[in-house]
Amino acid sequence: MSIVFHPEAQEFHLFNDQVSCVLEVMANGHIGNLYYGKRIADVPSFAYLHEDRDRPLTAINAPWPSAFSLNYLRQDYPAFGTTDYRYPAYKIRRENGSEIMDFKYVSHSISAGKPSMAPLPATYVEHDSAADSLAIELFDAVTATRLILHYTMFADLPVLARHTEFIQEGEESLCLEQAMSLNLDLPDADYEWVHLYGAWARERHIRVSPLAEGLQSIYSMRGTSSAEHNPFIALKRPAADETSGEVIAASLVYSGNFLGQVEVSTDRETRLQLGIHPNNFRWNLAKGNSFVTPEAVLVYSDQGLGGMSHAFHDLWNNYLVRGEYKNTPRPILLNNWEATFMNFTEADILRIASKTAEAGAELFVLDDGWFGKRDDDFAGLGDWKVNLKKLPNGIKGLSEKVEAMGMKFGLWIEPEMVNEDSDLFREHPDYVLTDPERFASPSRHQYILDFSRKEVVDNIHAQVSAVIRDAKISYIKWDMNRYLSEVYSRGTDAGQQGEVLHRYILGVYDLYDRLTTEFPDILFESCSSGGARFDPGLLYYAPQAWCSDDTDAAERMRIQYGTSLVYPNSSIGAHVSAVPNDQVGRTTPLQTRANVAFFGAFGYELDLNHLPADEFAAVKEQIVFYKEWREVCQFGTFHRLINPFGGNDMAWISVAKDQKRAILGYYQILGLPNPRLLRVYPRGLCQDAVYEVRNQASGAVLRLPGSVIEHAGLPIDRDLLRELGGDFASLLLTFTEVD
Ligand code: GLA
Repeated sequence: MSIVFHPEAQEFHLFNDQVSCVLEVMANGHIGNLYYGKRIADVPSFAYLHEDRDRPLTAINAPWPSAFSLNYLRQDYPAFGTTDYRYPAYKIRRENGSEIMDFKYVSHSISAGKPSMAPLPATYVEHDSAADSLAIELFDAVTATRLILHYTMFADLPVLARHTEFIQEGEESLCLEQAMSLNLDLPDADYEWVHLYGAWARERHIRVSPLAEGLQSIYSMRGTSSAEHNPFIALKRPAADETSGEVIAASLVYSGNFLGQVEVSTDRETRLQLGIHPNNFRWNLAKGNSFVTPEAVLVYSDQGLGGMSHAFHDLWNNYLVRGEYKNTPRPILLNNWEATFMNFTEADILRIASKTAEAGAELFVLDDGWFGKRDDDFAGLGDWKVNLKKLPNGIKGLSEKVEAMGMKFGLWIEPEMVNEDSDLFREHPDYVLTDPERFASPSRHQYILDFSRKEVVDNIHAQVSAVIRDAKISYIKWDMNRYLSEVYSRGTDAGQQGEVLHRYILGVYDLYDRLTTEFPDILFESCSSGGARFDPGLLYYAPQAWCSDDTDAAERMRIQYGTSLVYPNSSIGAHVSAVPNDQVGRTTPLQTRANVAFFGAFGYELDLNHLPADEFAAVKEQIVFYKEWREVCQFGTFHRLINPFGGNDMAWISVAKDQKRAILGYYQILGLPNPRLLRVYPRGLCQDAVYEVRNQASGAVLRLPGSVIEHAGLPIDRDLLRELGGDFASLLLTFTEVD
């Protein structure tokens, strides 16, 4: 991997074995983009790729006879206001009302490693040899403002990380009204765009659409990254599939409002942008102030969407997740939420916990309802003191009893929220994020605490850390159950209200930082009404996220399949719950619920005491089985084999990094009459190695070389599926290399 500067050509070539990016200092001092894509050789100049064109209706950005027009140039961080009429990467308003800025190249530096972006979450490297970084410094002489474009090329992944920094050194107070993290101009538009959309209980479904002239975008203006869209966009060549073809993908390491957009010009050139949503965003750039955008990462794959996912999974697992659980199998847990909701006593919890221990699980999680006057969702949020009526021995007493059963103990919190019926609200009504002259809209009967204010974060930190310190807690589920509305801070003056949304997210990161620093052994799992804040920003602190409140196996197949586009199985909280399913009313076989949840951070979400003896015995077997296979399930290389969107089947396989073991899940939606055999084609195995392939449902065993398995395929016996219940039946095939 290398970052090379060619002084004569004034060009930068950032490359590793897989990907290249070529930037140029253009005649006007701005940074142009000459190439982004598959690794190419380094040559002294790529200037032939610079395309100046004097065309009708073109304004020229230099004295005659130049043809230099920004409108037709591929730029790295474009401005609006001179000759480019497309959407800009940033917007600054000056005191005199002008929005014209002109950042010109001043200098650059190339260094080994990757600088920290604290207090923002970002990818990191442990050794300088793992990445090289480039910082290009530009300066607007009229306002004396500095702009620094940051790039990091990873050594072993086709990944370029990006962010931008604005520093005001001049006397003028500027207003930064937009600052995207990433802009990528591409020379053609022969792509489809891929994104993940959804809603509560059906998060991250996959949408693939043709690119049209004009704008297409996804976004969140809800204050979290949201269930509706994920901060991810991919551009794929129309022929690209799971294993072949070019894909360029971008993901934002951020948990708040975002905008991802693709602009296609009428000349069919493409501009991809990703960053904080400009709506409701204004940052005060007075003298001495600065602004750093969140990090965006750009992934290049010439092995289709599968190659893209592998790059994302390895990036998050190796260079984003931190702490004790980095690349470490996650405990099998049972969460009491769907078993009791908020209605429980200590005796109820201990009864469930005891059965959980008997089943062989490793962690018991007490969900919502343990604090304040939290008997329903009208009260209690904000008061992080144990409810001694429900739990007379406190969290400490309960956690000790759970530990004595041989399990770890975990606890649910929702630190960003407050109910009107709480001591916190009564004492500090101004802690709520709202405009006091307007109606404050409740959601789930709760309000947002103003985490843009340090004293609010301090208050919650003091309360929550006292609970954690006092008890034996090994896991925290951090929930966030509403979107933001009436965003107005009473701790900030009028000129800074546009900063509140971002400062809120910084407050969330601050509390995460304090808690993960103070309690480094605790495993954090993020949650937002299920998966409404499933993003790389939070993975930096919480290595796993509750993927969805929808625990129905048939819907979960699709949610987890879509989620896997960007996120590794180790990050996907996935539980077996009771049937009929609470969210959709559907009944699916117990084994299918497990067979889906195995491909995630696995657990249960029900009272095992209510299962008939044969099902409880099956749960015990599932846990024994999963302990043997979880490392492969959670940290293997994951291949999507059959897409469930629109079809009746789904299959995926996770292959251990050393290719010695693999586990395949096949799932049928509805049973079929008089069906033919279906053939599934596994991927990722070692071609020459011989594997013992075991059908976990029938016990049937085959011994075959990897090449035969992959290319001739494995038949799925639909008669066996009928015996397994037909509708929603599923199979697991395990692969073990034999000598
Ligand atoms: C959210 C979460 C659930 C559960 C409840 C508790 O909906 O997604 O898993 O924790 O809150 O109120």
